[in-house]
Amino acid sequence: MARLFGSILLRGAVLALGTAALGASARSCTLPHGAAGTYEAEDAVLTGTSVDTAQAGYTGAGYVTGFDASGDKITFHVDSSSVALFDLSIRAAAVYGDKRTTVVLNGGASSEVFLAAGTAFATVAAGQVLLTTGTNTIDVVSNWGWYLIDSITLAPAAVRDPAHAGVVAAPVNSAPSAGATALYRYLRSIYGRKILAGQQDLEWADWVAAQTGGRAPALVSVDLMDYSPSRVERGTVGTAVEDALAHHARGGIVSVLWHWNAPAGLYDTEENRWWSGFYTRATDFDVAAALADVAGANYTLLLRDVDAVAAQLKRLQAAGVPVLWRPLHEAEGGWFWWGAKGPEAAKQLYALLYERLTVFHGLDNLLWVWNSVAPEWYPGDATVDIVSADVYAQGNGPMSTQYNQLVDLGRDSKMIAAAEVGAAPLPDLLQAYGAHWLWFAVWGDNFVNGPDWNSLDTLKKVYSSDYVLTLDEIQGWQG
Ligand SMILES: *[C@@H]1O[C@H](CO)[C@@H](O)[C@H](O)[C@H]1NC(C)=O
Repeated sequence: MARLFGSILLRGAVLALGTAALGASARSCTLPHGAAGTYEAEDAVLTGTSVDTAQAGYTGAGYVTGFDASGDKITFHVDSSSVALFDLSIRAAAVYGDKRTTVVLNGGASSEVFLAAGTAFATVAAGQVLLTTGTNTIDVVSNWGWYLIDSITLAPAAVRDPAHAGVVAAPVNSAPSAGATALYRYLRSIYGRKILAGQQDLEWADWVAAQTGGRAPALVSVDLMDYSPSRVERGTVGTAVEDALAHHARGGIVSVLWHWNAPAGLYDTEENRWWSGFYTRATDFDVAAALADVAGANYTLLLRDVDAVAAQLKRLQAAGVPVLWRPLHEAEGGWFWWGAKGPEAAKQLYALLYERLTVFHGLDNLLWVWNSVAPEWYPGDATVDIVSADVYAQGNGPMSTQYNQLVDLGRDSKMIAAAEVGAAPLPDLLQAYGAHWLWFAVWGDNFVNGPDWNSLDTLKKVYSSDYVLTLDEIQGWQG
């Protein structure tokens, strides 16, 4: 059900780096450091690429061009006197239009960098690199090719304060339930210091516990999909609430998302069956048009659907279960109908959900989790408790690019979650990069148990880390 993001930000094996070296690394990050500075591309090792001077505006003796085959690259050698984290930027000219390049650190961790079309050289932020002691390599590899590289620059990355003092102290709902208050307080108390291990679907949470010698996920995410009226009328019977109640009963934390099957306009063809009805491709339901006509039949259908899930959320409220509620997920991707008409319609629908559930239905047990990274999609501080992203990137990396984007989005006043991941992040890297995700939740099936995403060894390593909180370790969080 999770969609792969267009930009896979960390692929392949993440570490060319012994984890032993990482233990004491975070403290050294702010020190002035020999590796900092600008490295001219024309001085680096070129593979399938060449130096040119035709395009004005370069620094040094020229720039590097000729990225026309997939293996073409520039290899920079960077000496570092310690394990240290750097912000990387690239000076480039995408004179042939929007392009993408791939940055590979020490032959392992890779990230994709977008180069916006332009007629001149410009500097773009290219994420962070954790250098090891000794000589490191940073490759700039072709990817889409057809761009000019002038230089790269490394600057010591600031260490993020784990206290995150600016994070607001209470939920946005002015009258939250006791459970929601307790959950928010608990999350605030661990944010920046620990990460909650999470898993999509109770059955996969139990599978994880069986693999890790009984260390169950602290957080389980369930999906209200099968309570969508356009599915129920075709025979689905939701069980997500029962699963949430079961996980709550054993002392766990519950997160809820909703693959909202469109209320009407399902194609139900061979390629796009009715049960795919949350996908833009499977329905002609127009969310912007429906919202624009509050007296119209389709607005009424939206309310019908919201009321149907409200009834399920009320069952959790009645049982005293606070919910990390993540509606309209991945809106900015556009692949779900609620995001298909752009940010204004999505934000309007979110506002409708907030009002209908919080005010009309009196659901005071919800903490509101927003799930897109782009500023133009953000519904605003008044209705968001936690900002989050879904990241599908192999290599068990720290996803620091998205973490940093979310810090900016919420101006570090909102906690930040990795609401869906393909690969569980390695705790040593999370700490070294200062990527203080509040929780991660691995998607089920081939993600949690696919070796390309999570080897059993990696899962065991993650689940046994002191930095990672499992179900046994969060008992009593209600206070
Ligand atoms: C409601 O949505 C359906 C499905 O997209 C569409 O066919 C219909 O025309 C809409 N109704 C109105 C009144 O706009």
